[in-house]
Amino acid sequence: MLRNLRVGIAGLGRLGKRHAEALAHQTRHCELVAACSPVTQEREYATQQLGVAHVYEDYAAMLANPEIDAVVLVTPTSLHADQTIAALQAGKHVLVEKPLALNVTDCERVLAEAVKHPALVAMVGFVRRFDPSYLHAHTAVAAGDIGRPFLVRSQTCDQNDPEGFFVRFAPTSGGIFMDCSVHDIDLARWMLGRPKATRAFATGTNALHPALAEFGDVDNGMAIVEFEGGQRAVFYASRTMAHGHETSTEIIGTAGKLLVGEHAANDRVIRSDALGVRHGVVKDFYERFEAAFGAEMSAFVAACRGEQALTLTLSDALEATRIGLAITRSLHSGMPEAV
Ligand code: NAI
Repeated sequence: MLRNLRVGIAGLGRLGKRHAEALAHQTRHCELVAACSPVTQEREYATQQLGVAHVYEDYAAMLANPEIDAVVLVTPTSLHADQTIAALQAGKHVLVEKPLALNVTDCERVLAEAVKHPALVAMVGFVRRFDPSYLHAHTAVAAGDIGRPFLVRSQTCDQNDPEGFFVRFAPTSGGIFMDCSVHDIDLARWMLGRPKATRAFATGTNALHPALAEFGDVDNGMAIVEFEGGQRAVFYASRTMAHGHETSTEIIGTAGKLLVGEHAANDRVIRSDALGVRHGVVKDFYERFEAAFGAEMSAFVAACRGEQALTLTLSDALEATRIGLAITRSLHSGMPEAV
């Protein structure tokens, strides 16, 4: 019998708390034995709410604990590359949140380090690959059900947060395309068979949050990406939806098309009355992808225990960053940019 995977988590913010709760209470074959955060309240949360045995202010100190087999990184994006490399050097498996890094050189440094540790799992959290609906769509595309796929239209649209969490987040997020569209970019490559991207064009606007302009960012962004084989992708990302979180993707092929996630329904109830016909909506990314986050964590644990191989690679994460950067350059230059 394989023993449980012993996990340490770094970062206990908006998403880190969710991952920590999943590791402590829901994911099979693992134990959350350590947590790390520079914030006192977050360390207290780990001890008092989750009963985590080892709590650290310093990431290097957590890595020095020989009882930890794997780390989950839910820290600001600007720290991902160095923290992933340090984990691999300490002999730990790593699940790092997306995006892997905000420049290609940092991604390449991670890939080079991972090659030196073939027995360790290094996985990037492209959670949508574990969503049942996206998996269904991918299986159908791979089976040829829509003929030859040539166009992906994909959007990540968050409900407007009047308090502007993402404005404070902007200095470390890499901007709306690196933060939100990076998921859509990975989905497009996955659905289209991993083609090489050649050129990108982007534009955007600040509809409600002009403070983003200070960071060269927008609250609504649109992009077109060209791929070598003639495939195309169109992305839309928004921070200002009035109704809720709406992630949806259309995969168009020569013999049909698939639509995933349209209308953001939060359940299967449709109400018809004097006001019209309507349904409730998911309020945020976590409500939409809760099941996928659970499946993602289970896949990571299974991969670390040698029970399951991963199809999602660090090279995929590098390509998503490369494309996201070209889109962001185009947003700033106003011109098409080579990928
Ligand atoms: P956040 O700002 O709420 O949390 C960041 C956490 O990192 C905080 O707990 C902070 O105390 C901690 N931290 C900062 N420096 C640290 C250090 N040196 N060592 C250890 N901990 C440190 O941010 P949020 O929204 O939780 O995002 C974190 C990451 O997760 C980002 O990279 C983001 O792109 C990613 N993310 C992924 C999503 C997905 O759909 N897969 C959704 C939301 C976020």
